Amino acid sequence: MGENLPIFDLRRPLKFHLELTDKCNAACPMCGRTQQMNRCLPDMSKVRNIELDLALIKRNFTPELCSKISEIDLCGGLGDPAAARECIEICDYFIGFDIKVVLSSNGGLRSASWWRSLGELFTENDSLVEFHIDGLKDTNHLYRVNTRFGKIMENATAYLASGAAAEWHFIAFRHNEHQIADALEISRKMGFSRFRVIHTIRFGKENRFCYEMPDGSLRELNPADPSLVRATNTAESEGTGAQARTPQATSGAVQCKSARQNRPYIVATGAVSACCWIEGSEDERQMYALAGISHEPEHNIRNRPLEEILLEEPYRTIYPRAWSEGANPVCVRKCAKMQRSTRSEL
Ligand SMILES: C[S@@+](CC[C@H](N)C(=O)[O-])C[C@H]1O[C@@H](n2cnc3c(N)ncnc32)[C@H](O)[C@@H]1O
Ligand code: SF4
Ligand code: SF4
Repeated sequence: MGENLPIFDLRRPLKFHLELTDKCNAACPMCGRTQQMNRCLPDMSKVRNIELDLALIKRNFTPELCSKISEIDLCGGLGDPAAARECIEICDYFIGFDIKVVLSSNGGLRSASWWRSLGELFTENDSLVEFHIDGLKDTNHLYRVNTRFGKIMENATAYLASGAAAEWHFIAFRHNEHQIADALEISRKMGFSRFRVIHTIRFGKENRFCYEMPDGSLRELNPADPSLVRATNTAESEGTGAQARTPQATSGAVQCKSARQNRPYIVATGAVSACCWIEGSEDERQMYALAGISHEPEHNIRNRPLEEILLEEPYRTIYPRAWSEGANPVCVRKCAKMQRSTRSEL
């Protein structure tokens, strides 16, 4: 009987992952928006400079739906939520329903008073900001290209002064691994509640990653010493929502993280997807072809109600079938072989 139930259950508590915008002030070389060998300029074949606005959010996230949502993660694949014009208004709307908001940012955009206001709002429930800061004054900009460490510290200080919760997430590379202990100490002094080290898996087989800085100089990223970011007590990174690794998770069968968390994904175009890994992939295209539904425009909240979209194929039978047949390479990699970046808490 359960076979034809959609993978997302609108009667159970839900979470959502939203990409509010694909705009960003930074140009991290390993980010999907960046052309790493062209001065880290944005890849305009992907970036459209668009956003989800408050009116669109209100139309789709009705009070009824909001009453079932426990958490909304404002992260995404191509942009920074702080770059969305109505970021605070959207957070305010969700927090009005007592939804926990988890906002991931490089922290370099906006004024200190904007961050203070965000903090005041976030103290209303247990919402939090994950600041993604990969080093200190002399290193953070080597990955968080185009950001200024001093400004990020001012913004984080203003946010924390409100009493709201924040975590510091630090992607470890060879060029910043020696600063992990200092960054941890600074984070404690500033009042961050958690410090997490991310062990990225975005290196190719060569185990190095070349890129061109905006000034034309060539640089290389190298992995950190694995013993510094040992995967003990790790949880998944690349998207928020910690979930401890379990032995059965590597058993070979696909265990969909998104279905387990009841957590669909919506990108800044308005397109609805199962998760940030499958979004825009060939696997997703094939499932839509099988469903006889076009992802765009039919499964886009600009054109159709979110609650209708989530109850249709490919979310009913096509995803479960693909998982049991091992037909989606992305799903097998991410949710059977568990090839994900990991994070450990210090
Ligand atoms: C595209 S960003 C969007 C949110 C925000 N702009 C940020 O950077 O936090 C999504 C996530 O990817 C993470 N990320 C960026 N580069 C990464 C890398 N090389 N390895 C693992 N995660 C990475 C970010 O830290 C963030 O958690
Ligand atoms: S801050 Fe986030 S969205 Fe912006 S370039 Fe870096 S990883 Fe990508
Ligand atoms: S990669 Fe596939 S199995 Fe994993 S969360 Fe995404 S849709 Fe689910």
